[in-house]
Amino acid sequence: MKKLVALLLVIVLALSFVGCKKSSGDNLIGVAMPTQSLQRWNQDGANMKAQLEKKGYQVDLQYANNDVNTQIQQLENMITKGCKVLVIASIDGSALTDVLAKAAENDIKVIAYDRLIMNSENVDYYATFDNFKVGVIQGEYIEENLGLKEGKGPFNMELFAGSPDDNNALFFNGGAMSILQPYIDKGKIIIPSKQTEFTTIAIHGWSSSTAQARMDNLITANYASGKKLDAVLSPNDSLAIGIVTSLKNAGFGTAAKPYPIITGQDCDKPNVIAMINGQQSMSIFKDTRTLASQVVEMVGAIVEGKEAPVNDTKTYDNGVKIVPSFLCDPVYADVNNYKELLVDSGYYKESDLQ
Ligand code: BGC
Repeated sequence: MKKLVALLLVIVLALSFVGCKKSSGDNLIGVAMPTQSLQRWNQDGANMKAQLEKKGYQVDLQYANNDVNTQIQQLENMITKGCKVLVIASIDGSALTDVLAKAAENDIKVIAYDRLIMNSENVDYYATFDNFKVGVIQGEYIEENLGLKEGKGPFNMELFAGSPDDNNALFFNGGAMSILQPYIDKGKIIIPSKQTEFTTIAIHGWSSSTAQARMDNLITANYASGKKLDAVLSPNDSLAIGIVTSLKNAGFGTAAKPYPIITGQDCDKPNVIAMINGQQSMSIFKDTRTLASQVVEMVGAIVEGKEAPVNDTKTYDNGVKIVPSFLCDPVYADVNNYKELLVDSGYYKESDLQ
């Protein structure tokens, strides 16, 4: 009798385990985000979770504190839990080859979110904003606001690039330099530091403090004599914050020593405030709601066993394959249009920007 009870218990437990795995895994979507330290990723994560849940999915949303091993562990857990699809904004795009091989063995599909995942055949789709265009818009903003097309110049400028382990950083830089390089070649833009190589101007981990320290050095070495600085190409807002802090500490921001044109990306709240205060000139706006809804559509198609919608099958080569991509359209915000773009659209409340 005891044996029979024990056997029944084992069967009940086994069945409940299968049931549990099925009910959680069946519609469970894993969303792996890099860090909560930058506002945009919080927004991305929250939008993804809300929109997926609205469609009836369960969501395992994780942030990895910008630590590659933490992200790998989180992905392994998602695989063990039986997630159907993994949506991954990678920290180091080249560090996920092994864990994605495990995902593929378990028949789990993978969407690279915002950043391309490199060196893996197990990336099914990529959803992002047009990263080259982001750089082009930043370059064109500088071109227009300095009057370069009208032949004005020469102007002094310094260049920054993003994290070298993020494929996006190369695209942002490529796009911006496609506009700015001809003016450098013609001598209409001068880079007093002469630092133009991607590896020299790149800021690891998109760190604000590293960008600030590099700007401090650039000022000391090249602008101490009072030479005018007309523009700084910053690929994103976390770098722009560091650059502005450095310039402010060096006495910029007065009538005699105005801030240069400073670009950015993400429209993070502190940066929009900096734009309103005249410290940062512009920021690329990538509406994370648009990207999230595109990814939710991709997830829906994958779960139904269909092809997901893409609009680019040429650009994003991850070293092993060209990943079918959906590119959303970036635009820029500055002091003239931020209200319409960011407040009227409901992205921020007016009170967020005070
Ligand atoms: C994103 C940017 C972001 C940067 C730093 C890039 O991959 O595309 O929007 O500013 O990472 O987090």
